[in-house]
Amino acid sequence: MGMMACGIHAAPSAEVRELPGIIPRPLQLQVSAGAVGFDMSRGIRVHYNVSRSELGRAAVRALMAAEVDVLPEENVGELTVEQVAHDNKEWYAIEVSPQGIALRVAGLQALPCAAQTLAQSVVKDVAGKPALPTMQVEDAPLLPWRGLMLDPCRHPLSVEQTCKMLRIMARYKLNRLHWHLADDQGWRIEIKAYPRLTEVGSHRAETPLLANHEQGDGIPTEPFYYTQDEIRQVVAYANSLGITVIPEIEVPGHSCAAIAAYPELGNSDVPGYAPRVATTWGVLPYTYAPKEVTMKFLTAVFAELCELFPKAEFIHIGGDEAPREQWQRSPFVQKFMQQHGMRHAGQVQHWFTHRMAELLAAHGRRIIGWDEIIDDGAVPGDAVVMYWRSWVRPSSLLRALQAGHDVIQSPDSHFYFNFSQGKLPSDPKYRPHGSLTAEQDWRHVYAYNPVPEGISEEQRRHLIGLQANCWSESIADGPKLEYQTVPRLCALAEVAWLPAHMRQEKEFLGRIYAQYPWFEKEKINYRREDGSPARP
Ligand code: ACM
Repeated sequence: MGMMACGIHAAPSAEVRELPGIIPRPLQLQVSAGAVGFDMSRGIRVHYNVSRSELGRAAVRALMAAEVDVLPEENVGELTVEQVAHDNKEWYAIEVSPQGIALRVAGLQALPCAAQTLAQSVVKDVAGKPALPTMQVEDAPLLPWRGLMLDPCRHPLSVEQTCKMLRIMARYKLNRLHWHLADDQGWRIEIKAYPRLTEVGSHRAETPLLANHEQGDGIPTEPFYYTQDEIRQVVAYANSLGITVIPEIEVPGHSCAAIAAYPELGNSDVPGYAPRVATTWGVLPYTYAPKEVTMKFLTAVFAELCELFPKAEFIHIGGDEAPREQWQRSPFVQKFMQQHGMRHAGQVQHWFTHRMAELLAAHGRRIIGWDEIIDDGAVPGDAVVMYWRSWVRPSSLLRALQAGHDVIQSPDSHFYFNFSQGKLPSDPKYRPHGSLTAEQDWRHVYAYNPVPEGISEEQRRHLIGLQANCWSESIADGPKLEYQTVPRLCALAEVAWLPAHMRQEKEFLGRIYAQYPWFEKEKINYRREDGSPARP
């Protein structure tokens, strides 16, 4: 797309003195402060030649999704887009001049990042009109996986609120939503082949009180689950923002809701067997039994998942906190272990992990599991380990790297956003346990070092990302979720993006303040610097 054909018109703004406060900070950013910039009061006019190429169309879509004003199909060209070779497919460069905006990207996945940088760069010129400063950006992320996990199992989370969280993620260039769709307290996704999962598994007799988790509220919950249409809607919306949704169904533990719906999936021969959707938090003894009916069930469920999440290269199989006690007490499982030459019940989980990896490989997907999946023997080399148990020694992060696995870091020492950030009445009582830092505010998150000392260059390449996890035992609604995640998520986004030596806490705080107008516009209940909620 030649510049001539696009009929570049000058659209100078008045002088631009305000500097954009972009999060995450671009690797290279040069702003001509005080110079004229690009007038945004009419938006960016896009010549129809640009809109005719696939790359150009994708760029226009990314700009619109990021709420940058564009006027496609014009006879005037103020945007050029070009693909260039670069190892990092998320690499992009932007040049803004009074005449227009030139984008260069290494791959389509860089377009949402470039678009968000532009969205965050719109400031006011001295005449008070929206403008982009004359500037040059060259940028690429440190790590390819920048995620947030949402848990609609312990408390429901509406489609609308989920989409709002996606907008917040996209703003800060997070690109993976890990959607925790089944747990002991609820099954939250419609599965056509097994309707009782939602008929039975999507509601429970009562919910623990927020003020005292030991006590129930005595109120049966309404059924809550996402229909397949709603799932598709969320996935499509996420994709429009450059976010891939990774579903998680827990295997073999945290599976009470499914087992309550289909009791034959569990260890039904143990004394006192009476599965029901859990009404308490914590770890429950119910696990899947290694039976044929269970594998038939998992095969069907994950086939529907793969269809609903066509772009998810990875599917999360859970794998955390699976107690062994029912397997130890089940005559069926004891016989199964003998037949398979298993010496301890942990090998049953290991068996499940292998079956799930095979099953998903047949769909062309790789598994992700919580770091317990490597505790009981080698698992397939392409399994991704999600590191969360910061307190376990030897470190499961290092063990996973030594075994050659890709690792996503979501240690509870830093990235459990359900944990409290302070001691205010607005902070949940849910505090980090034991040896962990008691209050984990954005500064604590910002100080995280994502590249452990002493690892090899080869191991460094297996550190594929960072993720915040927001469990919902203590988070009953959208505003609470926002209070727990914003602006901590901004800190996580920058830690995943910028090499550690380029991070500066004090300077970062200035850029957090620069987000406040956007938080206000989006009606986000963010945590202010003094700890108070913005929308109490
Ligand atoms: C976890 O927090 N149980 C992964």
